[in-house]
Amino acid sequence: MSDLTQALRDDHHSFDIAKLDEIKDGNPFTLFEKWMQHAIDSNCLEANACIIATVDANNQPSSRIVYLKELIDDQFVFYTNYHSHKGKDIAFNNKISMQFFWPLLQQQIRIEGSVEKIDEKISDDYFQSRPWESKIGAWASHQSEKLSSREELEQRIDELSKKYPTDVPRPPHWGGYALTPNKIEFWQGRASRLHDRFVFEKNGTNWSIFRLNP
Ligand SMILES: Cc1cc2nc3c(=O)[nH]c(=O)nc-3n(C[C@H](O)[C@H](O)[C@H](O)COP(=O)(O)O)c2cc1C
Repeated sequence: MSDLTQALRDDHHSFDIAKLDEIKDGNPFTLFEKWMQHAIDSNCLEANACIIATVDANNQPSSRIVYLKELIDDQFVFYTNYHSHKGKDIAFNNKISMQFFWPLLQQQIRIEGSVEKIDEKISDDYFQSRPWESKIGAWASHQSEKLSSREELEQRIDELSKKYPTDVPRPPHWGGYALTPNKIEFWQGRASRLHDRFVFEKNGTNWSIFRLNP
């Protein structure tokens, strides 16, 4: 067996710092906010980074990390380029999943649902709150398209910096998506892989709550 295989087989930690005995509040957003705030307060690195999985027209899933930036009206909002790989997938199939993992807290949250582009005004407000360099970058990066060289990108940045020396409008192909969840799972690692899992599932306007086997 190679050293790497040995290391992969050996590298597991005991999850034993907390448990999730019961769900006291029937509102998953309250629990999400509580866990997220705790992750931020506990200095979890990149606490708001989450994995977004999409599916393309050939049913090929793909995933990547984005930042959760807002919770608006019980919707999870992230920002990206609408022409990117993920943007094209979403235009074809707007069902996605979103996943957070906080190793320090031995917790993960899994969310499933469908996304819509958010109101342009909200995207404008958020875009304008970003540093100038990020705004130029949103124009310069033709996200997920082939790039012949780093110089090609840097040349576009130079040109756009001259075009927009101060005020930068939001590119029309850049903005937010809001995920409306129909399922949210809260996972707390436990010893011997006997983890605690609680799922909130939307039934009409209500949420049903159940436990899953680990
Ligand atoms: C920590 C972290 C945060 C990221 N946040 C974002 C984000 O908020 N929006 C975004 O479009 N890409 C973000 N990215 C880059 C994406 O992971 C990805 O490379 C990019 O969106 C292109 O994905 P696509 O080709 O699947 O569309 C982030 C990457 C990392 C590692």
